[in-house]
Amino acid sequence: MIRVSSRLELDESLARLRAPGTRLAFVPTMGYLHEGHASLIRLARQAADLVVVSIFVNPKQFGPNEDLDRYPRDLERDHALCEREGVDLLFTPTPDGVYPPGFATSVTVSGLTDSLCGASRPGHFAGVTTVLARLFGMIRPDLVYLGQKDFQQWRVVARMVEDLAMPVTVVRAPLVREADGLALSSRNTYLSEEDRTRALALSRALAQAMRAYLAGERSAERLLSLSRTELDGLDLEYLELRDADTLMPVATLDAPAVLALAAKLGKTRLIDNALLAPDSPDRGLSRLLEGAAL
Ligand code: PAJ
Repeated sequence: MIRVSSRLELDESLARLRAPGTRLAFVPTMGYLHEGHASLIRLARQAADLVVVSIFVNPKQFGPNEDLDRYPRDLERDHALCEREGVDLLFTPTPDGVYPPGFATSVTVSGLTDSLCGASRPGHFAGVTTVLARLFGMIRPDLVYLGQKDFQQWRVVARMVEDLAMPVTVVRAPLVREADGLALSSRNTYLSEEDRTRALALSRALAQAMRAYLAGERSAERLLSLSRTELDGLDLEYLELRDADTLMPVATLDAPAVLALAAKLGKTRLIDNALLAPDSPDRGLSRLLEGAAL
């Protein structure tokens, strides 16, 4: 595996590795990699000849009171994980390399970014779409892998790619959970043992709704109320059921919908979601309630 930080080294390595007809898959990350990231890399590895992973804690997507300074980092461990997963090129740019002096462009997707995480994190998605537009320009991938863990992020990026006719295919990869249901996240490392246990309410809340959905319940109000019961006593930022395509609120689930939530456990903000669709990749969620591992 080659690891590069500068744009020049990136260009040189890509020129060398990229024979005509080569399919390049890109997995953008902020590092502190876990099994969720590894699953994206594996899917990319299966689909492409060349796999590029980036690690960049993007300052533009953090609000002034968010965790940019304490975001966990462990480049050597990340390097080893990428190597083990067969990554060809690991790109670890510096902030100046991504945003050189004079950088003046911002990419904003409207509408889809107003609700859910966008409501409490103004500017967050513009930070994400701006950095990804820049990274797509530098790496020129054929495929990009994003996780369902950040469902709204995936939706927003897919919209940007479509609207700007970017020549890249966006692939949404399934959400990876711990055996007890907690969605893997680099931020889980912040959780105290007690909050780690309390955090299980998030996936349980989704599982309750999934079970009812699979049993035929289609009323958003009733599905939401089943979830809300599990979240009693938590510092809930939002719990919403929205159309999976438009992210608009839904009353009756006659098309795929996403049940999404954000909550604070201590100082740590966690998000989770489940896709409610007849052929949902999250069907297994409901098994959580029987205490079975996923
Ligand atoms: P980061 O949080 O590091 O996540 C990188 C990718 O891994 C994202 O596409 C995310 O959805 C995916 N991912 C994280 N946890 C996952 C899980 N449990 N299961 C499946 N996929 C998971 O998301 C970002 O970084 C940044 O916003 C980025 C896209 C890199 C732009 O800066």
